[in-house]
Amino acid sequence: MALWLLMGAGAQAQTTKFGDEIYQPIRGQMGRDVMWMPTAQDHVMNLLNAAKVTASDRVYDLGAGDGIIPIVAATQFGAKSVGIEYNLKLVELARRNAQRANVGDKVSFVHGDIFVEDFSQATVVTLYLLPELNFQLRPTLLKMKPGTRVVSNEFDMSDWQPDLFIQSERAKGYLWIVPAEVAGTWILQGLAGVTNTTLHLSQRFQKIGGHITLGQEQLTLLGAELSGDRLSLHFVDGKQVTHSLKARVSGGVMEGELLAGDLNSSTNQPIKGRLR
Ligand SMILES: C[S@@+](CC[C@H](N)C(=O)[O-])C[C@H]1O[C@@H](n2cnc3c(N)ncnc32)[C@H](O)[C@@H]1O
Repeated sequence: MALWLLMGAGAQAQTTKFGDEIYQPIRGQMGRDVMWMPTAQDHVMNLLNAAKVTASDRVYDLGAGDGIIPIVAATQFGAKSVGIEYNLKLVELARRNAQRANVGDKVSFVHGDIFVEDFSQATVVTLYLLPELNFQLRPTLLKMKPGTRVVSNEFDMSDWQPDLFIQSERAKGYLWIVPAEVAGTWILQGLAGVTNTTLHLSQRFQKIGGHITLGQEQLTLLGAELSGDRLSLHFVDGKQVTHSLKARVSGGVMEGELLAGDLNSSTNQPIKGRLR
């Protein structure tokens, strides 16, 4: 945690001292793969707010430094949190900081390498690393449970476009929501009066598109969106009527509904689908 020290009467400069009586890390000191540089508290709040962190979340900060992100996640959002950090002195400082913030029961720190330690239990992952490290972590992040939120201070994820851009006064960040895998041909059941319904989806991260085949009709999808495991899409039939499908997707199974007034029914129609 930063201790702001005024340099005394008449001093022009305000210097920032980090750490405590036992250890004072220096901004820019080298770490294993990236140097230590703390995220400013207002930006930590903006990143965690963007990720909509709640008390039911498990937040993992990869490269946790002095622990500011896990500690704020616990003190301000009530989340259980874990920091993984390679530098043992920073780990010990982070543990003391968590005790001082009275969240020693909610926050823990693992002394280890982010490329070795397991963070698959996270519902929110926070990063302040480097573009190439984000890119290296990307395959692991994409295998996490759909809906897991990833926030990064400063650095993007190459061609995985963010779901949200985050701007603080002096820093920027990004939010991604891990998308479910939905690419392929889905056999749909439940559309009243229509047999042979298939949904063909193409996917690049969370961006999806494709068409739906209703009997003999092939209709291009409009406004197809994927957020975690939530799929929503629209299509216009030959009579120029717009239809909307909302569904949740998990392990090759889709469950949802076609919204009221669509096709041959005036009520919401439950829809089930399976990936062929
Ligand atoms: C830019 S700092 C960010 C610190 C903290 N997450 C924050 O936002 O205030 C990056 C941290 O990652 C740590 N680090 C670098 N490579 C690491 C690795 N392979 N495994 C674990 N920690 C690492 C560094 O020691 C440093 O504390």
